[in-house]
Amino acid sequence: MTTPHTIAVLGLGRMGEAIATRLDARGWDVVGWTRSGRASGAVRTTGDPNDAVAKADLVLLALFDGPACRQVLDDVRDRLRTDAVVLNTSTIAPAEASELARRLGPAYVHAPVLGSVPAVAVGALQILAAAGQDALERARPVLEALGTVRHVDDVRTAAALKLIANNSLAGAVLALRDSLRQADALGLPRGQVLDILELGRLGGLVARKRPFLADQPGAATAEFTIGALAKDMAVLADASDTPLRSAARLVDTPADPESDIAVAATVPAVEDAVLEPLRAYIRGHATGDPTHFRDAFLPTAHIEGIRDGAFVSWRLDEYCALFPGRSAPDEPTRSRRIDVVDVHGTVATATMTLSHGTDTFTDIFLLVRVDDGWRIANKAYHRHPSLQIPREKR
Ligand SMILES: NC(=O)c1ccc[n+]([C@@H]2O[C@H](COP(=O)([O-])OP(=O)(O)OC[C@H]3O[C@@H](n4cnc5c(N)ncnc54)[C@H](OP(=O)(O)O)[C@@H]3O)[C@@H](O)[C@H]2O)c1
Repeated sequence: MTTPHTIAVLGLGRMGEAIATRLDARGWDVVGWTRSGRASGAVRTTGDPNDAVAKADLVLLALFDGPACRQVLDDVRDRLRTDAVVLNTSTIAPAEASELARRLGPAYVHAPVLGSVPAVAVGALQILAAAGQDALERARPVLEALGTVRHVDDVRTAAALKLIANNSLAGAVLALRDSLRQADALGLPRGQVLDILELGRLGGLVARKRPFLADQPGAATAEFTIGALAKDMAVLADASDTPLRSAARLVDTPADPESDIAVAATVPAVEDAVLEPLRAYIRGHATGDPTHFRDAFLPTAHIEGIRDGAFVSWRLDEYCALFPGRSAPDEPTRSRRIDVVDVHGTVATATMTLSHGTDTFTDIFLLVRVDDGWRIANKAYHRHPSLQIPREKR
């Protein structure tokens, strides 16, 4: 086993730059390359990836995604030293990792990392490393300079585990978004809210990302971008073939994809205009006055669901005819809330819960932004018995 001396770092984005800088500072002969030619001056760079790899006994990839890894490796393939180890820290799909392993053979080490730029700087990444014994032992000194190595049996599993870890991060960011939106709606001061959130389950994230989360965010540099996390969630949803809400919610975040992931937690609640037809719908139920339903729905709308075991599809006129023009006698005990609204450009979906006496309705809406504002294009509902809370537990 030989310890690598010369390291080529391909991709000098946020992670690649930090990794190259740390390895250089620890005495390795590092040469970097990045597609844009951007150079911070922290490490020696070259404009040609072939030059970078020609002398390297370890080639480290810190590239955006699987296609970038494939493209760059194809470009340098002929200049790789025959004894070079290729160490890939990029977050890519399990199938892409398998494909690279197949192409590169025993020289390939798949090593996606948990932790961001600050963790690289102090060698505190958690690294999920999958490779043959020889390549792994050759890469180990470099890996250990960057963090703690966790051996994983195969490259596909290492790539999949990394995606699952990032799914929990995406969940945390979106949970933080919900908390901040609710706090804003209650008029709570942001600083006080962050102080309290730091004490709870999201504490680590809030503490690390505080400069991005404050009322007037400071000019902090993005460490991990919304675009990169959205890419990971899209890759995960594709790989698992299982619906993943965070993938769409991150892609549709109204913020620069180059912003830090924490910025995704600070985007304002959905614009009021999309709530207008939902509020008109609520007024229709509260008053029994069908005029509100005509405001809420497009005239072409259908209201559909299962009623007494049979599928019903009412046109708007038929639906409006069900309402007598006055409130239900038990209106004071009824309640309605909007649970979810997801906007995707000119269309949106919404879910609402209506508690009407012994019945609870889950209403699912499809909304469209037309010339005169948002309207409900269609509604489907599920009727189920209300949860009866025993009197003694109320
Ligand atoms: N940032 C984090 O906290 C973090 C943590 C763990 C894992 N990761 C993963 O690590 C990898 C790098 O992340 P990062 O944050 O450093 O991303 P980044 O700042 O966006 O950098 C991406 C790098 O990939 C290069 N690149 C993109 N598309 C390319 C293509 N088609 N061909 C050649 N090069 C291409 C970019 O080159 P140019 O910009 O020079 O064009 C840049 O060097 C990603 O897979 C990411 O998911 C990131």
